Amino acid sequence: MTLLVRAGVDVRLTGSPGTTHDDVAEALAELYVAVFTRRGDGEAEHAENIRRVLDVEPDFAPDNSGDLTIELLNRGVPATYLGGTEETTTGGLRLRETPHELGRPVFVINDSRLKLLVENEFGVDQSVVQGFLNATNLMAPGVRAAVLGYGPCGKGVADTLSRLGARVSVCDIDPMRALEAILNGHRVSTTAEVVADAQLVFTATGRPGGAG
Ligand SMILES: NC(=O)c1ccc[n+]([C@@H]2O[C@H](COP(=O)([O-])OP(=O)(O)OC[C@H]3O[C@@H](n4cnc5c(N)ncnc54)[C@H](O)[C@@H]3O)[C@@H](O)[C@H]2O)c1
Repeated sequence: MTLLVRAGVDVRLTGSPGTTHDDVAEALAELYVAVFTRRGDGEAEHAENIRRVLDVEPDFAPDNSGDLTIELLNRGVPATYLGGTEETTTGGLRLRETPHELGRPVFVINDSRLKLLVENEFGVDQSVVQGFLNATNLMAPGVRAAVLGYGPCGKGVADTLSRLGARVSVCDIDPMRALEAILNGHRVSTTAEVVADAQLVFTATGRPGGAG
């Protein structure tokens, strides 16, 4: 945001429900970024924020989750629109699975091997495990944890919990990822079986629901 503002770009920004840090949003607003997001926003406020950000008819939309790009498709892509970027696994999946005629490039940053290794595997792993243990005051050794999805995020979480002494069970519907989890020492079974005796359940499938 800071770089774009310094380059003279008219920047509008929104966040995701429940994740905005209001102090950061205020600091960005002081830098002349038009900020439409508050931590307490629900889904309705978020949808309104998306609309207000897109009212500027952007030339470029760096997105995180697909919300901006999908709303652009719904309302009609401005003639001047050049394309965008998409940060997440989930947003990339949404864009690939939504039939559309965007006619502009969207670079899925999540496809980068660097991002998958550094952020999804090691970054998400540390913040999920550390955040969870801090919030619950639990000790990891001996706890029974189920991890659903053994992509980069689930792998990071499962492997770290295991290194900390937790007893980890994994479910992944992709047989190669299930095999990788076995080779890394985890018990692997169906969702129903791995959650049956789990004290902790972590989901990292990138999709709602999910019995595998
Ligand atoms: N900073 C962040 O907050 C951050 C960063 C990266 C990823 N993410 C999110 O974390 C999630 C996982 O990311 P990833 O890169 O590991 O995704 P991924 O798609 O590579 O891996 C997901 C795994 O879940 C498995 N899966 C799908 N449906 C399943 C089901 N019903 N039962 C069992 N397994 C199932 C898939 O086979 C796959 O191996 C996504 O929602 C992503 O957007 C968040």
